[in-house]
Amino acid sequence: MSEHLYNKYVKNMTLEEKIAQLLQLAAPFYDEPGDDSEITGPMEELGIGNDTKRAAGSVLGIAGAEKMMAVQKEHLASNRLGIPLLFMADIVHGFKTIFPIPLAIGCSWNPELAELSAEIAAREAAVSGLHVTFAPMVDLVRDGRWGRVMESTGEDTYLNSVFAKAFVQGFQGDDLENDMTRVAACVKHFAAYGLAEGGRDYNTVDLSERQLREYYLPAYKAAVDAGVEMVMTSFNIVDGIPATGNRRLMRGLLRDEWGFDGVVISDWAAIKEMIAHGAAEDDKEAAFKAIYSGVDIDMMTTSYVKHLPELVKEGLVDEALIDEAVLRILKLKEKLGLFENPMRGADPELEKKIVYSDEHRQVSRKLAEKSSVLLKNEGVLPLQANQRVALIGPFADSGDILGWWSWQGSKETAVKLGASMQVLSASPDHVVIAEGSGIHTISESQKAEAIKAAADADVIVLAVGEASEMSGEGGSRSDIRLPQAQLELIRVMKELGKPLAVVLFNGRPLDLHGVYDVADAVLEAWFPGSEGGAALADLLYGKVNPSGRLSMSFPYSVGQIPVYYNAYNTGRPKPEEETDNRYISQYIDIPNEPLLPFGFGLSYTTFAYEGLSLSSEVMAADRPLEVKVTVTNTGNMAGTETVQLYIRDISGEVVRPVKELKDFRQVGLAPGESKEVVFRIEETQLRYHHSDLSFTSDPGRFTVYVGASSREVQKAGFRLA
Ligand code: BGC
Repeated sequence: MSEHLYNKYVKNMTLEEKIAQLLQLAAPFYDEPGDDSEITGPMEELGIGNDTKRAAGSVLGIAGAEKMMAVQKEHLASNRLGIPLLFMADIVHGFKTIFPIPLAIGCSWNPELAELSAEIAAREAAVSGLHVTFAPMVDLVRDGRWGRVMESTGEDTYLNSVFAKAFVQGFQGDDLENDMTRVAACVKHFAAYGLAEGGRDYNTVDLSERQLREYYLPAYKAAVDAGVEMVMTSFNIVDGIPATGNRRLMRGLLRDEWGFDGVVISDWAAIKEMIAHGAAEDDKEAAFKAIYSGVDIDMMTTSYVKHLPELVKEGLVDEALIDEAVLRILKLKEKLGLFENPMRGADPELEKKIVYSDEHRQVSRKLAEKSSVLLKNEGVLPLQANQRVALIGPFADSGDILGWWSWQGSKETAVKLGASMQVLSASPDHVVIAEGSGIHTISESQKAEAIKAAADADVIVLAVGEASEMSGEGGSRSDIRLPQAQLELIRVMKELGKPLAVVLFNGRPLDLHGVYDVADAVLEAWFPGSEGGAALADLLYGKVNPSGRLSMSFPYSVGQIPVYYNAYNTGRPKPEEETDNRYISQYIDIPNEPLLPFGFGLSYTTFAYEGLSLSSEVMAADRPLEVKVTVTNTGNMAGTETVQLYIRDISGEVVRPVKELKDFRQVGLAPGESKEVVFRIEETQLRYHHSDLSFTSDPGRFTVYVGASSREVQKAGFRLA
């Protein structure tokens, strides 16, 4: 298939020209001469100048149709073979129209809307000259201390896989070659980056191959099966070897076993970082290990450019390996149509029209409505238009609601909570706004102002949380409570004795001590994106009924972490009834259960589950089961319920989790309305990785759980013959 590319290009390229294709440089190299403000570390070694620019095959972080076109034009004018540059960037949850952070999108349990958000992100990125996005990030995370948890869709293998597929489809569409509004996707970070020890970014990862395959790999695999064009290596070690130099992982598993034949790119500087890891003595060895492992693009180090030529000359690296990498990159350029049309979708006129358009922002608003999770509500919400509200806190009137990875987003024009609430209240002066505290500081005058603002209020709404830089890359925290200043603000407001609702802006499941136990209502907003304030006001005033469900458990306290719903039972599980027995698997100071479990979320209405039934008590490989349950809206507002299906394999060759999500359905129900929800369970859904890594099911007993969260379920049993 790519013979023509070989004959036309690779065959005629010098070794240096080939290696140039394997280098990716960041935007500052292409900015105005002299602008080296962002140039750090390895980039410095390359120096700045036309020769260096010409030495690259792709660029990171340039956007804007005009800029991109100018860079591409200049590049082509000096490129002997006329091979265009690929333009890449991190379009993680939107380009300029910022959607809620991925962790929030996970809580929507709505893959259709997730796909649409990626499609819109692609449309805005493509018209601005980008060809590849470094997304989706599908790392499974069980530790909220890790700042990058905000980029993931949560703690569950199945749910993450569903979203991985949706994002890839949204970014790439079905016809990347002809559809100029799409971009190639790059799934990351391969593999198991989310397991960084202690939640500290870039830290050691260590797990068995069985765990890796059972829990961590499926979401990447779902992206590969959905046709993702690129895979990014992770910073961590996998079984003791940095992923970027891990031949077994990159060639053995990804390419040979899974059949991935797209481009593999290193994460930023990850090739050179093999030295610090202690996996390479020097840069040359690092380059050797990476190319040997099948890493095609070196993001932002000089390892390949400097050392591959000598490695080839010394006979240590077969030039065929380099040809292979070049060919994969050229294939992607061809697939994107860049040889005929190096500007692809870049269009300065259209860019002005569609980027950040009303239409796109409305989708962001909808997704924010679906992603927020009502965590507690003791009769305070929804607010009534004629109530007097004191809206207090650092997020009451803040544009810092986009979250990390919103490089092109505009905090200035993000829709703020305060103004949006004023629109929905009976009159704007029904909502009095005060800052109350900073993120980390509180002064007496701020307290006094907050108390004054609350003086005539019927209800206090506190908008509190983490600044966006408190999560994201390099944003690990060891204490995941709200900052003390804001806990103090909550205490002060509570003393006023008025109904108190808290709206949380944050990038991770927090330890909610001092919040959940104090407030009458808690709405988890995450970082809701460009239209966040509007969506939240609709939710607070009941124009929209909350429907988000947690895609990650909220720990009781940090000491429980990692805490996740699909854990093993242990040999000494904690019994449901009280016991004096100390020799059971428990803490003596805190509960075993997280504060809020996976799948949890409230609504302004209530739902009842009835009549769980199975079509048979015995299942066989050729005889799937049907599971039926009737769900009724027992309250007086229309609402959406997420009906979740979990399974437990009672006994296996390898121990099985107490519950595993296998399927879910969202049903919209009018007050009083009932619907029957039908699931089908097949033998393939009961398979798991055995001790010899075979992926099969074990005959025997299983329990099916259906319900509103991983905690609130009805159950029935069956046997696999
Ligand atoms: C991050 C990646 C990102 C890359 C390029 C790295 O530091 O780990 O997720 O895609 O930078 O911006």
